Formats: sequence, structure tokens, C-alpha cells
Amino acid sequence: MSPLKAQPATLAVWGGETGPSYEHATQVPVVHSVSFGYEDLDTWEAVALGRAPGHIYSRNSNPTVRAFEDKIRDLEAAEAATSFSSGMAAISATLFALLRPGDRVVSIKDSYGGTHKLFMEFLPAFGIQVQLCETANAAQIETEIARGCRLLYLETPTNPTAKVIDIARLARAAHACGALVAVDNTFATPINQQPLQLGADIVLHSATKYLGGHADALGGAACGSSALIKRLFHFREINGALSPMDAYHLLRGMKTLALRIERQNASALSIAHWLERHPHIEQVNYPGLERHPQHAIARSQMRGFGGMLSFSVRGGLEAIKVILPRLRFAHRAANLGCVETVVGPPLLTSHVECSAEERAAAGIPEGLVRYSTGIEAVSDLIADLEQALRALD
Ligand SMILES: Cc1ncc(COP(=O)(O)O)c(C=O)c1O
Repeated sequence: MSPLKAQPATLAVWGGETGPSYEHATQVPVVHSVSFGYEDLDTWEAVALGRAPGHIYSRNSNPTVRAFEDKIRDLEAAEAATSFSSGMAAISATLFALLRPGDRVVSIKDSYGGTHKLFMEFLPAFGIQVQLCETANAAQIETEIARGCRLLYLETPTNPTAKVIDIARLARAAHACGALVAVDNTFATPINQQPLQLGADIVLHSATKYLGGHADALGGAACGSSALIKRLFHFREINGALSPMDAYHLLRGMKTLALRIERQNASALSIAHWLERHPHIEQVNYPGLERHPQHAIARSQMRGFGGMLSFSVRGGLEAIKVILPRLRFAHRAANLGCVETVVGPPLLTSHVECSAEERAAAGIPEGLVRYSTGIEAVSDLIADLEQALRALD
């Protein structure tokens, strides 16, 4: 379906869903069929060669999955999008489809734990060099780009310490050296930030998180120009696809994306302000706080500051072992971005794959709590944190 232009809240509802659908169903049907049959060989050939619309085999394309791809494409205001079975599948496909032995990637120390593993373990095994820089040091990143770079890989705000990177500034530096720029936009979502508008070439998502929003489907997506997405799609049609049932759940979740993000932006900001003043809290990391070191960059490139924050409690790991079990309105789980509030220490969530030394090098204290604000009433969430923290008095 051709791209739709409208406000984000409208695109969340209608993106990928404006065409005629099976038997006039108003909701995108879940097409489980693995293959699509044609009565005559000429039509089959035209579809197989991309000269006529249609589908051949669901690893390549599927109507339900296509609707999901069109919706995220519209929300990111991209020319094209393709989907993956998870966020990590989207990230690995991007790296393996675009890089060759001898290439150099410049990235940050604070990327998601799984991405970090790809950088440290998998890419070097294929002869690809990765230079990880201090996340908040734009000048150092620029210097490393100038030393040679095929791909600049960014994630902002970061997981779990909520650092913010100036996408436009670094995209300019990367393009000046002929490098491509990929940005993981999982935390911000297109409601809060559109990296393609800031100069990025590829936007990546773990759709498992905010896009789906209900923690009931894994998925990933990449958005960008038609030419770049064609290269990623070529890898993914060989490697495996998003399942139609997951695409359906993601599509349904995305209809409320703008509403959920508006609520989560507002609640996370109130909670961050409240935590900042609490005597048992050592530090709060949230880009919406004025004293956040990159608040000015966040203001300039984000429409809202997101639902993710992290905080360290005085007393470290022992203190969070006391307070987290006392929260009534939070899952203690390795997930984020859903309608329920979810909490967990990064040592059991985003950075569980990392050694204690790697976490320390990434500036992640063992007593840090990652807090994914849900859509509950913020007064209940604050009261819940208050009663849990009282156990430390
Ligand atoms: C920022 C970010 N990117 C990518 C991923 C990986 O996504 P998935 O679990 O869907 O593979 C995650 C998972 O938590 C994440 O937080």
C-alpha cells in the first residue's frame, strides 16, 4: 500500500490499513497460509518476479506482515520498511546485510546488551572491526568516524542509563565520510523521535516493546530508503520472517501507540521529578529532567522524553532486593514498553549477557533499577514507589 501522510496518532490507526481487505473485514485478517497459489503460470510468474502485486511464500512476504511493515513505514515517514522476527533479528540483519570483511563500524558503549554482543563477539569473527566510543562524547565519535567508518550505529535514548545522542550532528559527520547511519529508535518510538528526519539512513525497532505495547508478540522492523530496505529484505527473505500472528498482535497494539506514549511521557516525567527529591534515591536518569546532561539535545530532537527511566537507590543491590518485591503495580521482568509498569535491575535485564566488568565499564551500577512506566494512573505508581521505599527508612 502506498505511504500515507497524516498526524502520528492518525497514522498509528490507519497506516497500512486503508486498502480493501478480505471479505470487507475492517480489521487486517491473520493470513496463516505459508504459500499463495495461482491458476495460471503467467500470473504466478508476474507475481514471483515482482511485476504484479501479490505473495508467493510467507518467508518472503505475507499480507498481515505487509500491513505491519506499511504501518511502521508510515509512522517513521520512510520510503520503505521490512520486518523481522525480533528486534535483534532486525539489528543483526542490518549489520550482516550491509557490512563486509574489512569494514569498520563506529558505535557507542551503551547500546542494548544483545547489540553489544554482536559488536564484541560476532562481527569481529567475520573480519569486521568495531570501535565503541563514550556515548555522550560526540567529539570522540566524530574523530573515530573520520578514521574510517562504513556504518555509524547509534541508539538514543540509551538502555538503561538514558543518555541522549545528537543524531543530526553525528549523521552529518558520518555522511561526510560516506558512511551510513543506523539508529535504534526502540525507546523513543516514532511518536517521540523520527531519526530519518534528523539525517539517519536506517531506523531500527524492537517492535516487541512500545510498538506492540502489550508484551504478547516479538517482532522487529527496519525503515529507510527503498534501495537500502531492499538490501535488508534480501537478507531477511533468506533468513526468516515475522509470523503473521505476531504481526497481527503488533498491528493491534500500534493503533494505540500515540495514546500510550503521550501517557507514558507525562507519567515518567512526574515520577522522575518525584524520585529526584526522595531521600533514598541517589540518582535519576531521565532525559526530561533539566539537569540531565543532554537535556538540551533531547529537547531539540524529541517531541516527548519517553516512558523509560532508571534510578539508583542508596544501599545498592541489597536495597533494591528489598524494595522491588514490594511494588504492587509492576512486573519484575526482563521487558519494557508495555501497558503495565515493568521494573528490573539491568544486571538481570538489558545487560544480563554482559560480565560484571562490562557492566561497570558501561557505567551501570549493580544497584540500578530500570523503570518502564506503564499506562496506570501516575498517582498510584508514585504511591506504590513511596510505600516500597518506606521499607528502607
Ligand atoms: C533498545 C533495544 N533494542 C533492541 C532490543 C532487542 O529486541 P528483541 O528483544 O525484540 O529482539 C531491545 C530489547 O530489550 C532493546 O531494548
